[in-house]
Amino acid sequence: MRTNDQLEPNIFVIFGGAGDLTSRKLMPAMFDLSQSHAIPAHFSIIAVDRVEIGEDAFRKRLYEGVRKFALHGKAAVKEWTEVARHIHYLQGDFKANATYKELGAQCAKLEKEWGSKAQRIFYMATPPSLFGEIPSFLYRAGLAADRERARIVIEKPIGSDLESARALNRILAEGFHESQIFRIDHYLGKETVQNILAFRFANPLFEPIWNRRYVDYVTITVAEQVGMEHRGGYYDGAGALRDMVQNHLLQLLCLVAMEPMVSFNADEIRNKKVDVLHAVRPIPFDAVHRSTVRGQYGKGWIDGKKVRAYREEAGVPPDSQTETFAALRLFVDNWRWQDVPFYLRTGKRMPRQVSEVAIQFRAVPHQSFPTEATLDWQPSRLVISIQPDEGITLRFQAKHPGEKLVLRPVDMRFSYRESFATPSAEAYVTLLWDVINHDATLFMRADQVEAAWQLLMPVLDAWKASPPSDFPNYAGGAWGPDSTQGLLVQQGHSWPVPVELAGGSPQGT
Ligand code: BG6
Repeated sequence: MRTNDQLEPNIFVIFGGAGDLTSRKLMPAMFDLSQSHAIPAHFSIIAVDRVEIGEDAFRKRLYEGVRKFALHGKAAVKEWTEVARHIHYLQGDFKANATYKELGAQCAKLEKEWGSKAQRIFYMATPPSLFGEIPSFLYRAGLAADRERARIVIEKPIGSDLESARALNRILAEGFHESQIFRIDHYLGKETVQNILAFRFANPLFEPIWNRRYVDYVTITVAEQVGMEHRGGYYDGAGALRDMVQNHLLQLLCLVAMEPMVSFNADEIRNKKVDVLHAVRPIPFDAVHRSTVRGQYGKGWIDGKKVRAYREEAGVPPDSQTETFAALRLFVDNWRWQDVPFYLRTGKRMPRQVSEVAIQFRAVPHQSFPTEATLDWQPSRLVISIQPDEGITLRFQAKHPGEKLVLRPVDMRFSYRESFATPSAEAYVTLLWDVINHDATLFMRADQVEAAWQLLMPVLDAWKASPPSDFPNYAGGAWGPDSTQGLLVQQGHSWPVPVELAGGSPQGT
């Protein structure tokens, strides 16, 4: 285990400590941190949950998660034992004062033992219904009184619409200053997502053409192969727009469209991002059907395996109207992007798992080559691959070898795997490290969350007002409903076939 004396003592409290998120994401990330980045010399994890389970059995359960999901997962028992002795389990009701009294006593005891005050990080890994209540208990129990050292970390969803997000933000603000609130969007912890800023603003090459003069349109795709797994109950109340677009896709849009930051400072970057959300042209309620597409998967085939329909998934009603696919056409009304369409799409049970941003450049203003030379001509395109492949591909025209003048598209590729020996850190490792270091750059501020809800409200309202009559409207294993093409074809645009860095080349569909 690597410890770091420079880091303040730290008590990391996880509400919902016996849940899935803790064993799949938080503990594996903590373990990775303890093996690579280092954790404070005085460090303790207190997992709080209702479940009755002994401390040893609890640690054993976490160990299974670590072995399965941590990057350093093949941990020898010795390494794990060193970390595990810092983990404690507190059984208690989230809505009982006694739980917070006991938690306070445990924190005070640790601080006394260490002879120093500690950072107290309260992580909400509970169902969202508790997001408002637990912070109030913490506040009333005086556990978050030290503004410099107490922090609260909240997972999405932050509300289920603008009103509920505002209400939750208000409750949080009663007990915590905005600088103490870390709202996680795990997409922002992904290496390639952070690299969008590096790529755009650390290279003078692309920024001059990153605007309406050169860019024809932008597509953002976050496609998943998985269906519901065991999350049908939650997902059916959310749907793709709330689950993915409100947070991950709009955050990607912000990073691609934002103005350069003056300094690498949390608020400066967040200001620039929120400017993008404010500039997105509102979709009028009665134009929603022209600017959006929703879908739900039926039965289908993926990678030669039969997959069941959404309505047959556990926890999903057989007549569910929830969308498992959403696509939108947005415009960012500012000098840089006026009238450049940004097409966003995301869905479950798609042919491949792939997240990527494709910047489609305009055609040359004048075609000086003979027609026979340009039969295979395609405009230049830059693709930022976020996952599972991580890298950047630039497609441009080149002369095909031979005596005849023929132009063909070719690719120039940067692949993380080939360029860097170190594998990319898991998003949660990055994000937890930032929480411990009090760096909020990659976290969502209240105004960002609310601006994102605000721009989606007409879509949510219009979709609610006219329930879909054609669900399921795409087969599992398809790229969404056929009408998704319609969003683009009117403008002569098309969804790109996602890049495969391992060998494929980007084509138009
Ligand atoms: C979560 C959504 O925020 O992101 C899930 O709730 C989705 O529905 C997941 O599967 C996707 O994350 P990743 O990192 O696997 O792309």
